[in-house]
Amino acid sequence: MSLLAVTGIRKSFGPVDVLHGVDFKVDAGEVVGLVGDNGAGKSTLMKIVTGMYSADAGDVALEGESILGKTPGERRALGVEMIYQDLALARQQDVAANIFLGREPVRTLMGMKFVDRLTMKRQAQAMIDRLGAKLPAINRPVGSFSGGQQQSVAIARALTFNPKIVIMDEPTAALAVREVQGVLDLIRQLREEGIGVILISHRLNDVLSATDRIVVLHHGRAAANLTTAETNMAEVVSAIVGGSDMVEAAAHEARA
Ligand SMILES: Nc1ncnc2c1ncn2[C@@H]1O[C@H](COP(=O)(O)OP(=O)(O)OP(=O)(O)O)[C@@H](O)[C@H]1O
Ligand SMILES: [Mg+2]
Repeated sequence: MSLLAVTGIRKSFGPVDVLHGVDFKVDAGEVVGLVGDNGAGKSTLMKIVTGMYSADAGDVALEGESILGKTPGERRALGVEMIYQDLALARQQDVAANIFLGREPVRTLMGMKFVDRLTMKRQAQAMIDRLGAKLPAINRPVGSFSGGQQQSVAIARALTFNPKIVIMDEPTAALAVREVQGVLDLIRQLREEGIGVILISHRLNDVLSATDRIVVLHHGRAAANLTTAETNMAEVVSAIVGGSDMVEAAAHEARA
């Protein structure tokens, strides 16, 4: 049984058909790259997994059970985390507030409930340290941080509640070279811990170096499903630009 199984997903926005029946699977401890041209439907497909968008048809199952009837919050509680392409941070709030947004620990004192800011700060600092992220100050509004620093906060938020699956939508887009290596190392560490990871990225070198498998979306269809160890840049690129026919043709050419 797969950790995550997406089957027959269809989605239209008004008259525009974006996903045409996509199947997609991730096992525990597996890192799957999801690649494709701008507008191929990658973010849309993953937002259907998190419940941010509803599907027109198909199913999303976590450990064999459909989660389509669950809210985004319920899916997070079940261990489905996503780092959104736009990061989706509360810019006026500090690091701890962002990490715990909607899931703040509560303490009861003399019958009254308080948000436990101290625990939040402590755990936020611990996660930032674990990620090796360099932030100017943990108690500053994250809107004042650089793109890479904000990315670190979004990653910390996704990892704080022991996820089963982490979906990263362009997690390295705003990062410098050294920070990119940090994220790729982190992905390998998550794999070791048995977490399923989906990496969406246009940086194909990163995808080739960090994943076990690569799924190519082309015009809303899964055009290729490649084992990373058995593929190469040229094959991935031809699937991205041409869909499966091109991959067949390239494979045929290679055999000839
Ligand atoms: N909320 C929305 N309303 C209308 N159309 C949308 C919406 N979200 C996405 N789309 C459309 O769906 C298509 C797929 O978009 P999506 O963001 O999933 O692509 P993507 O593969 O993530 O691209 P990129 O690599 O640029 O991030 C695009 O044509 C986009 O315009
Ligand atoms: Mg996208």
